[in-house]
Order: sequence, then structure tokens, then C-alpha cells
Amino acid sequence: MSPDGRDCPVVVLISGRGSNMRALIEDSRAVDSPYRIAAVVSDRASAAGLAVARELGVDAEALPPPAGMDRSGYESLLEKAIARRRPALIALAGFMRILSAPFVEAFSGRVLNVHPSLLPRHPGLHTHRRALAAGDAEHGATVHFVTPELDAGPAVIQARLRIDAQDDEERLAGRVLGLEHRIYPLAVRWFCSGRLALREGRAFLDGHPLTAPVQFDAELSAAAR
Ligand code: GAR
Repeated sequence: MSPDGRDCPVVVLISGRGSNMRALIEDSRAVDSPYRIAAVVSDRASAAGLAVARELGVDAEALPPPAGMDRSGYESLLEKAIARRRPALIALAGFMRILSAPFVEAFSGRVLNVHPSLLPRHPGLHTHRRALAAGDAEHGATVHFVTPELDAGPAVIQARLRIDAQDDEERLAGRVLGLEHRIYPLAVRWFCSGRLALREGRAFLDGHPLTAPVQFDAELSAAAR
């Protein structure tokens, strides 16, 4: 429940391990959290995160595409599964499916995603490998609103780190994941407490358009809430 008594149900979509989902479930249970996780839905029946959600007492549904069903058929199934939970927000958390424009528009302004790079750098897959191959000095994670264009919706918050000599793809992925677990709950809190919104294609925080994503500072994060 938000501080002003509003209910903010969140549906989390996953495809795999679900560590960001877990971070959201745990944060939603803090006494000062303005949101609750209404359900977790996975497009893969084998997603490890489904069992994690159930262990934590969250409604978790496996919804793989039925054999032979096309993309728009599957998206309408998914849309129904989400809509019946009446979410205020949909949080994509390692959901590895590209959503079409009609689906995104059905939930316009109410879908967030966490992406493992400093967008607009490295949209798409294998972001850590690509950051290393490009010789980037910095890397990180971004939470952004989802729009029909892949990984290109307005960015809300970013956390960055310096790539160091010991980083290989796996180590770097682990370091970035730790940052994702910090910034995603923060953005969901902002949305559910009415501070964050998407209006006319721009992200607004506290009534002001974001000209650049908020830069996460671990030491200031408690204050930022
Ligand atoms: C996370 O690193 C997330 O940012 C990424 O998948 C991982 C899921 O991990 N998402 C994407 O690449 C989407 N474009 P998790 O299942 O442990 O949260």
C-alpha cells in the first residue's frame, strides 16, 4: 500500500532465474513499500524464478506459448493473464520476449524494464560481452519505460560501474546484476508512490521531465526514497 493508501499491484514478467523478481518481491514487503507483487508470469515453464516466487508465497503462473500459436495470439493470452490481476504496473524482469506495439500500447505508460547496460549503449543481448569487446571504461544497468521500440523507451534511472582488469563476462554480469537489484525496486517505488510517470513519450519524476536518467548513488539511495 502506498503512503497515501493507494493500492499498487505489480505483475512481474520473467523468463528465467528471477533474481530481479526476487529483489522486487523482497522490497515490496518492506514496511514502507508502496507496492505489492500481485503475480509473477513466465513465458517459460522451466523458469527457475517461478519456484522462487511460489516459495515466497507469490501467485506464479507458467504461460508458455501453446504449440502453433502465433505471436499476436500469444500476446493476447498474456494480456488477459496480466489484465485479470488488475496491475497498476507491469515490471519486466529478464523477460526475453520482444513485445509488439499493440501489446505495449494496451498497457501504455505502465510497463518498466531493467536492462543490463547503460542505454542507449548496447540494447539487445550479450551486453556484458559487447561492453568488454568495445573496450568500454564504464558499464551498468538502466531502468526504462517500455515503448514499442526495443530497449529504447525513456530511461528513468541508471547505475554505473568502472570496468576493471579482472572483469570477464561472468564477473561483469554479476557486478551489474547487483546494481539492477538496487535500482529496479527504487524505480518501482517511484512509480507506485505517484512520483514517476510517462507522459507524451517522456519520463517525469516529481512533476519534472527527465532530460537524462537519474544517476544512482548507493550512498544517497536511502535518502532518494
Ligand atoms: C538481467 O540481467 C536483466 O537485466 C536481463 O536479464 C537478466 C535477468 O536476470 N534482461 C535483459 O537482458 C532484457 N533485455 P534475472 O532473471 O536474475 O532477473
